[in-house]
Amino acid sequence: MPFPYREIGHGEPVVLLHAFPLSARMWEPNAGAIAASGFSVIAPEFPGFGENQEFERVSSMESMADGVLKILESLNIERASFVGLSMGGYVLFSILRKRPDIVAAVALCDTTARADTTEKRDGRAKLIALLESKGSKALVDEMLPNLLSQHTFGDNRPLSDSLRRQFLECDPDAAAAALRGMAERPDSVELLAGTDQPVVLIFGEEDKVTGLDGMREMADAAPSSETAVISDAGHYSNLENPKEFNRILTSFLKRRAVNH
Ligand code: MLT
Repeated sequence: MPFPYREIGHGEPVVLLHAFPLSARMWEPNAGAIAASGFSVIAPEFPGFGENQEFERVSSMESMADGVLKILESLNIERASFVGLSMGGYVLFSILRKRPDIVAAVALCDTTARADTTEKRDGRAKLIALLESKGSKALVDEMLPNLLSQHTFGDNRPLSDSLRRQFLECDPDAAAAALRGMAERPDSVELLAGTDQPVVLIFGEEDKVTGLDGMREMADAAPSSETAVISDAGHYSNLENPKEFNRILTSFLKRRAVNH
């Protein structure tokens, strides 16, 4: 069974890969704008998130990539542009490793090409233990304070409230499975350096999770990549400043995905 996915628009395919612990719903402020620029938007849901309620003990980035590739196969899509935010970026690296031929253009948003450090893995193990004892409230307590910009916390209460609800709705076992999968992902710096597809790096200026240092490191690894820093945004740049995010992304897609 291919993963469930949302679909809107007509034109060249653009695949949107969601972050942890969200679902394809996170692309609601973006999908319409991308479709209106002449693209067919496909937004899969990874195991345990949104409509995709089947998951195993470990949700590897590789298995997520396989699920996305199955959707494209079922739609007879041979080439698409991919947008991955944070965990979605890790899945995009796995797609690039498996099927570079299917990738027309790459947008890496608030993510990193680096594998987890020992410290990061320890943090994930701690969060898994908290998910077991406190349930999905652990996601709200441990993650939310770090994710959003000052602007979002101060002036966009509906967004922070909506994220809090989405975190609470997330199945704690599914979140733990994805955390295990992220912890075991390989380093992708060399893969990025060897990528010959057009690349854009889009980061919130206050992203404290993946951060602008990581963006600069990826830009050094892939010197022909474009970079864009989104103001008034933290780790979820597409949700916190969708207007700016959509402007940057659609401009890139129109220039780089068309006539690939
Ligand atoms: C995400 O936003 O997908 C996660 O914060 C990524 C991570 O934990 O590495």
